[in-house]
Amino acid sequence: MIDVILGLQWGDEGKGKIVDYFAPNYDVIARFQGGPNAGHTLYLNGKKVVLHQIPSGIFHEDKINLIGNGVVLDLVTFKKECESVAAFGVDYKKNLYISERTHLILPTHRALDKASELAKGNDKIGSTLKGIGPTYMDKTGRNGLRVGNLLDKDFKTQYESLKAKHQQMLDNYNFSEDISAWENDFFEAIEFIKEFKIVNGEYFINEKLREGKRILAEGAQGSMLDVDFGTFPFVTSSNTISAGVCTGLGVAPQKIKEVFGITKAYCTRVGSGPFPTELHDETGELIRKIGNEFGSTTGRPRRCGWIDLVALDFACMINGVTQLIITKTDVLDSLDELKVCTAYKIDGEEKKCVPMQLNKIDAVPVYKSFPGWQKDITAISSYNDFPGKLTEYLDYLNNYLKVPVKYISNGPNREQLVTA
Ligand code: GDP
Ligand code: IMO
Ligand code: MG
Repeated sequence: MIDVILGLQWGDEGKGKIVDYFAPNYDVIARFQGGPNAGHTLYLNGKKVVLHQIPSGIFHEDKINLIGNGVVLDLVTFKKECESVAAFGVDYKKNLYISERTHLILPTHRALDKASELAKGNDKIGSTLKGIGPTYMDKTGRNGLRVGNLLDKDFKTQYESLKAKHQQMLDNYNFSEDISAWENDFFEAIEFIKEFKIVNGEYFINEKLREGKRILAEGAQGSMLDVDFGTFPFVTSSNTISAGVCTGLGVAPQKIKEVFGITKAYCTRVGSGPFPTELHDETGELIRKIGNEFGSTTGRPRRCGWIDLVALDFACMINGVTQLIITKTDVLDSLDELKVCTAYKIDGEEKKCVPMQLNKIDAVPVYKSFPGWQKDITAISSYNDFPGKLTEYLDYLNNYLKVPVKYISNGPNREQLVTA
């Protein structure tokens, strides 16, 4: 069976920490979408590591980590990341597998990402500029190159042909950038990746399933950044929701069992796009400061606000979430009041649905207030020891979303996770 861990908001919900925590219960940890736009933070003996391409199970010696076909792979980032995990004593070549169908991010994809954002001007998406959009466009446009192509004798010719196409597009944008250094790194990294186990991912994972192995699919980004269901066009270019597991790994839907949905106890977003519960005041600043809300990939300050139950309810619905994990609860420890968005007021009417064009609609959040617990909860390890005001808050989320809150994270470290 496959269980899934994914983010329910606009990313950065703490997926890396949670995957690392649950990894001992599984045999295979697999990324199914996204690429180096992701930044998943883990703490190992107090030392911080941020993973962009490698699944967050890599620090568990006996676990297989698979980069699935739905991922887009930046070889240069991947190589650097392998070197950084090696510093922790990880023999990454032993248990890291890559699907041959995984699409490659070329140096020109990154340039195109920049050119496209520049051309959008004030309407820019706020992309991480890692080449994600252009690479997925080449996948759906049926032009892209995949990991398996690296083994083709004429790979260089295929590369040059796609590069020439990209060059024309860059010329249309009137954009030029010297990519020669990146290109050198890219070709160096090709030789590096050839030393890995490049597999037919769908047969590989289905064989594991037949053997009764337990698979954990690790989502990147969050449901509100899903290309179909997020706040389009301010989204990423992949299906971040549970359905993406099937296409991103080559497994049938009935193989999916638990869907663990992660949400922060508040909400953040990085990049442009609608965010109804965003705080533009000192409370927002405080949450950013205490929660250290700066992007793990780009370092940009994250926009902060209250938890949005309308959006969360939508995310639970489209993902089929079976268990909720609430992270960064400790960040709210010092607040004297917390708010929860229970509906949007649109044209004077209260609605509990996420509209198609949230970016063009004035959705005013309707809030319910809760008194803060005003207690340091970071050392608590039993649910019964949580302050009553916190459990009231959690009960409310539970009842509204009709999905059980099963775990509460109260700090960045592995052991700071309380079972409800
Ligand atoms: P991801 O992209 O979903 O893996 O999340 P990020 O790593 O981008 O951002 C989450 C940040 O919050 C990281 O810096 C984590 O170390 C940190 N974090 C995760 N869980 C908690 C928690 O419960 N409390 C606090 N204070 N920090 C947390
Ligand atoms: P993790 O896995 C937060 C956002 C970008 C931008 C939009 C499109 O760490 O949760 P892209 O580079 O995909 O074209 O950017 O999506 N974004 C993320 N925000 N966490 C992420 O990943 C993100 N990956 C992309 O900021 O708004
Ligand atoms: Mg992140």
